[in-house]
Amino acid sequence: MSIRRRINDLRDWIKCLEEAGELRRITAEVDWDEELGAITRMVSANAGPALLFENIKDYKGTTFNRLFTNGLGSKKRLNLALGLPEDFDDRKVVATLKNKLMQRVETKKVNHGPVKENIISGDKINLFDLPVPRWNFLDGGRYINTLSCQVTMDPDTKLMNVGMYRGMIGSKNSIPVLLCAPQHWGTHFAKYRDRGEEMPIAVVYGWHPVLLMVAATAVSHPGCSEYEVAGALRQSPVELVKCETSDLWVPASAEIVIEGKISSDPSTFEMEGPFAEYVGYYGGAASPKHVIRVDCITHRNNPIFRGGLEGGTPGSWAEPYYWHPQCKCAVIWNYLESLNIAKILGVWASPITRGTDVRVQIETTYRGQAKQVAHAIWGSHLMNYTGKLLIVVDEDIDVFSDEAVEWALAYRVNAARGDVEIAHGCIGTNLDPSIPLNERDSVKYGHGTWSPVFIDATIDWNLEPQAQYGNKRFPPKASEISPKMEEFVKRRWQEYGL
Ligand SMILES: Cc1cc2nc3c(=O)[nH]c(=O)nc-3n(C[C@H](O)[C@H](O)[C@H](O)COP(=O)(O)O)c2cc1C
Repeated sequence: MSIRRRINDLRDWIKCLEEAGELRRITAEVDWDEELGAITRMVSANAGPALLFENIKDYKGTTFNRLFTNGLGSKKRLNLALGLPEDFDDRKVVATLKNKLMQRVETKKVNHGPVKENIISGDKINLFDLPVPRWNFLDGGRYINTLSCQVTMDPDTKLMNVGMYRGMIGSKNSIPVLLCAPQHWGTHFAKYRDRGEEMPIAVVYGWHPVLLMVAATAVSHPGCSEYEVAGALRQSPVELVKCETSDLWVPASAEIVIEGKISSDPSTFEMEGPFAEYVGYYGGAASPKHVIRVDCITHRNNPIFRGGLEGGTPGSWAEPYYWHPQCKCAVIWNYLESLNIAKILGVWASPITRGTDVRVQIETTYRGQAKQVAHAIWGSHLMNYTGKLLIVVDEDIDVFSDEAVEWALAYRVNAARGDVEIAHGCIGTNLDPSIPLNERDSVKYGHGTWSPVFIDATIDWNLEPQAQYGNKRFPPKASEISPKMEEFVKRRWQEYGL
């Protein structure tokens, strides 16, 4: 049986990591306040092991006394989670995800599951009972929703969405969150608000790692939720149980589920932020935000809390940098392919930018095609946190090679000839520190404003054909050797003593 088949939930994943030598259990006492985050940051910076903290200060002997993190904090473990050969490179992983994300496996609804072993409601709810770290020393609070999955439902279609959105503990039963209108839970929220209703929400902590991948990815097939796509990624149906306080459904073997409601009444808002964010800086300053009011917590016996860091910088990646770009690029690739405007040969985003820069490799068949590709991305839902810099290259430039892309940028781009375009006033992000504070208004702009840049790094078909080079517009590559000479030199190679 393949490893992927054996992974059903977080506990199987931890077991699988331990067998593969990819897990460290930390039994020394560790403080949830800064220390746990600092250890995780130092480990994930070097693609170190997954970590299971088993002795967290103030939580020893209590119900919630363990925390798992950095599970997907290396490319090897990403491959392991997807059941792929451990040395699969980025191109192969993105291509695999591209295919898998288009598939779906129906969910299985069950009446009971381990996540219902314990049910906490009413006055017994106290979020401070969970070993939630203050991950970074300047964080505005203890971030409970990091690598967790938020489930909401479209009140019209009844389709569930699973997304990943940050949130910190506000009080013993409240979680202020960063709720942005263009995200799928934002579109659900607007519908409940317009009906004068609160939005039910469930937050899932600790399950199969593929749920994290689909939650953080703009999977949006009509009539299909992330649960079906997660089923396709793990090749077996996701078993779901119904929530106690709403019509939402959650994985039956999740470690912990928090159920609650979000109101649109500003008087319920609580302060949230900042947090060490994906841009590599603290982001989302402290301000009043929407709140998940917690109605119920269900959990397994001996629950394991799941969380993780954001905010990588060059040379110091946090967990999502190892897997999030691959997921995003797979979705962009599928989307572009669905438009039938160009043969897409590859999509990649330099991981440190997490998709803020996106590069697309196409088979160019007419001038202007690269621009069409860029405009298609700018006009799509995928612009959430993505595509501030779009680079399109020809088929001979490997989009997964920084060197190849930089070479194309250096010599195939002529700004004077329209190869660089800026689209002012587009959707951007509220977390990008290059944007003035007044333009980082989530209510007014959805997130913030960007003036994204498109660079056409394909060969300009308007350049003059050069007779001396067979009427090609670009000269031959300098590293080319005539086939006759190459064959001759190869034959004599040993004679040269090389
Ligand atoms: C660790 C992590 C935290 C994230 N936090 C947020 C957040 O607070 N708000 C947000 O709008 N997007 C956040 N994102 C990005 C979304 O998860 C991503 O845009 C995803 O596509 C959202 O799901 P949706 O497309 O179903 O709305 C986060 C991503 C990761 C990996």
